[in-house]
This record gives sequence, structure tokens and C-alpha cells, in this order.
Amino acid sequence: MSIFKERTIELIRQALPDELQAELDLNRLVEVPPDPTLGDFAFPAFSLAKILRKAPAQIAQDIAAEIEKPVWLERVAVVGGYVNFFIEKGQRAHDVLTTIAAQKESYGSTVQDTPKTVVIDFSSPNIAKPVGVALIRTTILGHSLARIFSFRGYQVERVNHLGDWGTQCGKWIVGYRMWGDEEQLRLSPIKELFRLYVRFHKEAEVDPALEDAAREAFARLEQGDPEIYALWERFRSLSIEEFKTIYARMGITFDSYNGEAFYEDKMAAVVSMLTEKGLLQTSEGAKIVNLDDENLPPCLIQKSDGATLYATRDLAAAIYRWHTYQPTFVLYVVGAPQQLHFQQVFAVLRKAGMQWVDRYEHIPFGTIRFGDQAMSTRRGNVVFLEDVLNEASARALAIIEARNPNLAQKEQVAEQIGIGAVLFRFLVYSRMKDISFDFASALSFEGDTGPYVQYTYARAGSVLRKAAQVECNSTQLDYAGLNSAEEMTLIKELERFPDVVEAAEAAREPAGIAHYLLELCRAFNGFYHEHRVVGSNLEAERLELLRATRTVIANGLFLLGLEAPEEM
Ligand code: ARG
Repeated sequence: MSIFKERTIELIRQALPDELQAELDLNRLVEVPPDPTLGDFAFPAFSLAKILRKAPAQIAQDIAAEIEKPVWLERVAVVGGYVNFFIEKGQRAHDVLTTIAAQKESYGSTVQDTPKTVVIDFSSPNIAKPVGVALIRTTILGHSLARIFSFRGYQVERVNHLGDWGTQCGKWIVGYRMWGDEEQLRLSPIKELFRLYVRFHKEAEVDPALEDAAREAFARLEQGDPEIYALWERFRSLSIEEFKTIYARMGITFDSYNGEAFYEDKMAAVVSMLTEKGLLQTSEGAKIVNLDDENLPPCLIQKSDGATLYATRDLAAAIYRWHTYQPTFVLYVVGAPQQLHFQQVFAVLRKAGMQWVDRYEHIPFGTIRFGDQAMSTRRGNVVFLEDVLNEASARALAIIEARNPNLAQKEQVAEQIGIGAVLFRFLVYSRMKDISFDFASALSFEGDTGPYVQYTYARAGSVLRKAAQVECNSTQLDYAGLNSAEEMTLIKELERFPDVVEAAEAAREPAGIAHYLLELCRAFNGFYHEHRVVGSNLEAERLELLRATRTVIANGLFLLGLEAPEEM
């Protein structure tokens, strides 16, 4: 929690009647008034009126009277049913800046009292049957959520639930045997497998026998035919290797690549568990779980030919994750079209008495449209993550060449800016919003973009380098001087960062952090525009303000998955 919110809550708690002290959720009740002249924090007494049988204004008076003013508090004022708190400015600047200076990259983070694990299932590409652009969004969103939960003190298990199983695998095998290009498979496996997939479907339209061949190949794979299994294994590991290279560019690693194939031998147990609990019904030869009482269509568990389905594998995965990780939460970062799928899977588990499924959440997100012609038409509906990163990086390099041609390590910085621009654009929208993406606006240095935030970070850094002054002991400075409107605005922004992170965790939504960073940068640029730093009589204090701003920008960018380049 932010420093002064925490202290204010503590003051209120002590001023409350004993019986209420433990009970009230003050973190939720205490507000920041929309108009700062009303105070820095406000406690509305209305919700206590019923319990205490007193008018809110009277309760507010009583609480205010109980408060013993600590040095950091300028004053308390009662307005109607509100107790308003005014924080002493110099103290505020001092405590916020020294806290950030001391905590550095952990400023805003939390330590949990007891160990807590969160499993985050994200990215999870279908390698056997490539799907469109949703992969980009789950990858970016899941990566950020993983960093946020980790910062909030959770043990995070990043799981890539690969789509590496199913009849489509038979299409790989048939396609490869007929039209496979060994060279391409080694160079660019994801695209080669995609090419085979597309070709298979085109050819199967005129030659339906191909479908049978594919089914037959998959059946043999399921039976463990060594030659076919080896081929499948090779396609799978080549794809994973290539994905790992792409993930590495984004700073992403996974703790597990247990995908659908991993659950192949764990599904008989699911079917027998459902049978034992009397949940399985037969319908037209298929096995289903009826979910009428949950107002959901039945969940299909086994087809009439005995084949299991996506849902069956997810049931097995859910049970496996519960036993393996004992998680506090399991988050499935998967597009909104799969809402029904997860409702059904969770409902089946609930019916089976597995109450822990209440910890499982589908984290849905909206669609993406690529505005740039180049991206949307080249391969029909499929936009490859790698192509998006390449294009963004190339464009960033061109921008650098134009703006700052002498920059050192241009390629590396271009990668940081280009990829950062994509990540930020994907995260600045709430996840349920549909995105229309185009490179030019994502990469603008002036808009609500990643490069704008990164540039603010670099700009503050260049001031610090110019000042080139020895690291001073921040605790001995006089922060009371930092009392202009712009400085107070900036200090308040810095102060609220921990609350922003907390809210992002609670909503499973990185967008709040992206918005916050834009506000913070605006507050910084507003300050920097109005006030001289180097050579002013508050130089040392203002340099501390710059350092703190940089720390918080870097921490926020990190939570979104972005790098903070020193120069750009
Ligand atoms: N491979 C799936 C797809 O691309 C996403 C998997 C999500 N995770 C899960 N446990 N179902 O649609």
C-alpha cells in the first residue's frame, strides 16, 4: 500500500471504537478526494451510521476528535460525513523520495505473509493447428500478469499449455510426407508447419482421401507407432525451440510446456472419475456431462469413436495443476471466444465436488485487428508474432536513424523500443476492449505509447548524467522546498504506485499500470517544463525527484514487460 494511505488508515483504525477496529475494510473505504483542496485522503463515515446508530457527521466529528496528530499530518478537517486528512508537504516529499531511494526496484512490491502460488496458463499456441492473432495478446497479457503477481509476492508458475495433440497432428504427418521441405523445417519450423497445414486443407478439398490418411496417421500416433511418434516429437520440439527464441526477445520464459499431449495418458482417469460420480451420460454414442442446472450446454467428454476432446484434456490439466501446485489461483489467459469452454470445464469440476475450482479463473480478452495492410493480408487471417516483432523493431531502427543516428547499440535499442511499443499498445487497452493495431501510432514518441514512457525515462537519465554530481545522501536534504504544484503532483503520482500495482493484481488487468505510467510521465514532463533542475537552488532535491521518477517508471515498465533503455 502507498505510504501515507497506510499511515492514514492506521490513524483511523486507532480512532475507531474498539469493536470496529478489526472489522472494517479500511483499505477499501479510504478514498482520495477528487478535488485535492478537500484533502489528500478522506474517510466517509456513512457506512458506520447504521452500526453506531449515529449521524455520519457526528461519527466523523468523533473520529477526528480521537486522532492525535502525528508530525506528518498537517491537519484533519470534518466536512459533512467525511473526515479529510491533509498530509504535511515537506514530510510527504521526504518520505516518498527516501522510501523509493531505499527500496529501488522493489518499490511497489509486496511480500506475502504465507507462501502463495499462482499458475498462469498463457500463450499456449496451437502448434498443430495455428490460430490467428489471439496468440499475440495472450502472450503479452500473460507475461505482464506473471510479472505483476510475482511482484506482489506470489510464486508464479508460467505454463504453456501447448496445442500439440489431436487429429491435426495427423495432417502434419501426411503433409510433411507429401510436400515437406526439410531445409525450411529446420530454418523456420513454425512457418513450414503452417504452410503444410494450409496446403493440406487446400488439397483435401479436392482429395478427401487425405482426411482419412490424416486420421489414420493420428490413430497410429496415439498407438505409439515409433516412426510417426518420432516425427511428431521432432515437429513439436522444433516448434518449441523456435517459440523459445521469440519469447526470449520479449523476456519470457516458461516453467512448463506441458501441453495437450501431456494429458493423453491422464484422461482415462478423468473419464472413470466422472463415471464413478455418476456424472457421465451417453448421448448419440458420445459421453457427455449434462450441465442443465448450470444453464450451460452439455460438456462433451468423449466422442462416439472414443476420442477425447479439448475439454477432457483441460479437465485432466485442471486436476493435475491442483495436485502439482496447490495454487491459490489458476489464471487462464485465453480469448473471450473460449468463455463457454471454461465455464463448462469449471462447472464439471464443481459438480464432481472439486471445490478448489473456485480458485480457477478464465481471464478473457477481446480481438485485435491489424490496420497495416502489410500485416493483415499477407497470410490471410494469421499474423505471426515473430513478424510483428520484426516489423516493430525495423521501424524503431528507422526512427532512431532519423532522430539520433549516433546512438550506441542502435539495434539493441531498436529492439527494446519496437517490442516495447507493441507490448504497451496491447496493454494500454483494458483487456476486454477490441484493439485496432497499427505500427505508426504504437511507435509514436509523442502519443500514449511505450516509446513516450521510455523516452521520458531516458530524458530524466540524461539530466542526471549532465548533473554528474556525486551521489548525495538523500536523507540529509531539505525536501520542504519541493512544494510547487508541479512537484506535489509528481510526488503524489510516485506515492500511489503501490496502490496501482495492487489494483492491477486485483483486476487481473495490466492496463491500469500503463495508464498510470502515462500520468506519471505527464506529471514529470509538466514539472520539467516549469522548473530548472541543474543549477537551481534545489538542485540536489530535484535530482532526487528525477531519480525516484526513473525508478518508478522502470518498475512500471518492467511489470508490463518493457525494457527501459538509458538512451534512445
Ligand atoms: N491452444 C489453445 C488455443 O490456441 C489455447 C489453450 C489455452 N489453455 C487451456 N488450458 N485451454 O486456442
